[in-house]
Amino acid sequence: MTPAIEDFLRANAERFEADLCELLRIPSISADPAYQGDVRRAAEWVAGRLKALGLSVEVIPTSGHPLVYGESPRQEGVPTVLVYGHYDVQPVVPLELWVSPPFEPTRRNGNLYARGATDDKGQMLTHVFGAEAWIATVGRLPVNLKFVIEGEEEIGSSGLHAYLAAHPDRLACDCVVISDGSQFGPGQPAITYGLRGIACFELQLTGPSRDLHSGTFGGSVSNPVNALTRMLAALIDERGKIRLPGFYDDVVPLTAKEREQFASLPFDEKHYLAQIGLSEPFGEEGYTTLERRWARPTFDINGIWGGYQGEGAKTVLPAQAGAKFSFRLVPNQDPNKVAAALESMLRQNCPPGISMKLISHHGSPGVLVSLDSPYIAAAARAISQAFGRPPVFTREGGSIPIVTAFHEVLHADALLIGWGQDDDNTHSPNEKFSLADFHRGIRASAQLWEELAAVSPGNRVASAD
Ligand code: BES
Ligand code: ZN
Repeated sequence: MTPAIEDFLRANAERFEADLCELLRIPSISADPAYQGDVRRAAEWVAGRLKALGLSVEVIPTSGHPLVYGESPRQEGVPTVLVYGHYDVQPVVPLELWVSPPFEPTRRNGNLYARGATDDKGQMLTHVFGAEAWIATVGRLPVNLKFVIEGEEEIGSSGLHAYLAAHPDRLACDCVVISDGSQFGPGQPAITYGLRGIACFELQLTGPSRDLHSGTFGGSVSNPVNALTRMLAALIDERGKIRLPGFYDDVVPLTAKEREQFASLPFDEKHYLAQIGLSEPFGEEGYTTLERRWARPTFDINGIWGGYQGEGAKTVLPAQAGAKFSFRLVPNQDPNKVAAALESMLRQNCPPGISMKLISHHGSPGVLVSLDSPYIAAAARAISQAFGRPPVFTREGGSIPIVTAFHEVLHADALLIGWGQDDDNTHSPNEKFSLADFHRGIRASAQLWEELAAVSPGNRVASAD
């Protein structure tokens, strides 16, 4: 990184924060159709920033929210890097638990609080500013950059999946850079080599044609809420094992080496639990907390409804019940196979007098990236410089649905370099991003382009499979 770039980053630090605040003020909630116009506005905002860098930019319509695509002028003999990120955010309920309003970015204790601060507007913009620093000072980037910033990550990325399948040449690259995750801890950056996959469902049960008196009818017909709780409870046992037939068949067991490596990380379990108000962990028997989070599948009910929720008691036999739930999957598990096994087990367990409807929302497989690549080494150097400490290699429990498709279609695996922290409250009230991490991320990004430029093009990141 040239001294001019260093100076540029220092001189523009406040403006970077102001720009991030501008984007954070746009409530781009992809899941809620009421915010469709705001999602579009966020796309236009990102497109405007990329245009200002002199990239050729397009806002690409999809079946859902638009993609923002930007490309630097092509130079021969240098690697092409695809930067992926998302400008959509999660819903903000429960609103009353936010200390400051979710779309009024607010600084407190060195953090910026707003929905999307870390996931993923703040992290995504580090690469826009890292590129800007080169263009503004040197006049060009040391690599070819393509940005693809989507608006549907939080709802399964279906528009980007379709675009990638139809236009693989446009997104062709040597590696993909993604900052949409976490460091290992404060002051300890990480390169993530594994993400879990996901399979999301909704189950709707209908019994009698209307709510009934539970004294008159109770005991003589199926109660949909009773049925729902039994059907869901049968999916997991008290030791945290998922009971779907065949569910573990494709799970690649953790190797002794990886278990050792996880165990060698400075993980403070007490602190991990304390920051979420707990003192006891719980999960699949026989595994540590890091193993459970990073390398074992899960079943979680995300929402459940049915029956009377008001004051006092009401003796009712409800007509309907439902739930939303999801499985986190590990690499090699197929979300479609899980869906098929689920449907047949639920049908088998559905009692007489109840009709069930199972909706498969979105699913994506997990990912493992090989660490044995010159791009990973380049990213490690850039991170060491910016954060003052070399990264540790971790897996993460979250999912980024498009990453597997990047590997399969573009034959390019991802450099997953998250700048967030586990306590950033992603998807929760009071989401935040450390401003120090934001600026270190921008520095690491500016350094990364130079480090990646030193890798000969065509040297693709190999898959671990
Ligand atoms: N940034 C997260 C993914 C993530 C979370 C990576 C934690 C690493 C650690 C991303 O925006 C996200 O939340 N993805 C969703 C995807 C799902 C809705 C398909 C997720 O993991 O729930
Ligand atoms: Zn998210």
